[in-house]
Amino acid sequence: MTAWTAAKIRAAKGKEKLPCLTGFDFASARLLDEAGIPLILVGDSLAMTVLGYPDTLPVTMDEMLHHTRAVVRGVKQALVVADMPFMSYQASVDEAVANAGRFVKDARAGAVKIEGGAFRKPLIETLVRNGIPVLGHIGLTPQSLREIGGYKVEGRNARAAELLLEDARALEAAGVFAIVLECMPSAVATGITATVGVPTIGIGAGPGCDGQILVSHDVLGLFSGFTPKFVKRYAELGKGMAAAFAAYKQDVQGGAFPAAEHEY
Ligand code: KIV
Repeated sequence: MTAWTAAKIRAAKGKEKLPCLTGFDFASARLLDEAGIPLILVGDSLAMTVLGYPDTLPVTMDEMLHHTRAVVRGVKQALVVADMPFMSYQASVDEAVANAGRFVKDARAGAVKIEGGAFRKPLIETLVRNGIPVLGHIGLTPQSLREIGGYKVEGRNARAAELLLEDARALEAAGVFAIVLECMPSAVATGITATVGVPTIGIGAGPGCDGQILVSHDVLGLFSGFTPKFVKRYAELGKGMAAAFAAYKQDVQGGAFPAAEHEY
C-alpha cells in the first residue's frame, strides 16, 4: 500500500470513509499507523490532554514541533497533520508561512491544520502555493474560545448554516485538501459534504461526513476532563492504568515485586 498523502486523502472523497484520530507521541503514533488510520492529527488538544493546560490557547510552536517530530518517527503510512497553535498564524501571513514551514521542514509533517473560514483564504492560498498542504477547520473553532465564550454547537439557524457552507466553499477554493467540521447539526455537515469536492472530516458533525476524527485520549478513556456528547469510548485505559499503578505499589510495599524471575 502506498503511504497516505494530502493528495491521496483528497482523492478518497466518495470512495472510502476516512477514520482519523489524534496522536501525540511515538508509541501511540505507531499503534495508530499499524491500525491503518490514514490521517493522524497532532492536534493542539494535546495542550489539554497531554500538557494539562485548561484549554488549547497556551500551547507553543516549540511544544507542537516536539510532539509532531515524535509522531512522525512512529509513522510509516499515515499522513501526519500538525495543528498550527494559537497565534502561530494569526498575526501575519509571513509569520504563518514561516511557522507552517517549520512543521513541514523541521518536523517532517505532511500538512498543517488551520482554524477559520473564508477570512483565511489569502493565507491558505499562500501556503498551498508554497507547497504546504492545508487541512481546514470550521464550525466550533476552539482557538476562538475567548471570543465565542464557550464550546458550543455552530450553525444552528439557517443564516449560520449558510455562513458555514460559504466558509467551506471558500476553503475549497483556497486549496485545502480536506475540511474538519466540528460541532454542527448533522444536516448542515451533510449539506456541506454534498457541496464541496474535498473530503469533510467530522467531529460532532454526524454520519454524513466523508470521514470522522476524535481525540485519541477520549477514545481510549485517558482524559478525565469534560467528555463531549459526540465522543465514543472504545477503551477504559485510564482505569486500567490506575489499577496497574495501584497493583505495582502494593507489590513493592508487600514484597511481591521484584520476584525471583526479575532478579539477575
Ligand atoms: O486539536 C484537535 O484535537 C482538533 C481535532 C479535535 C479536530 O483540532
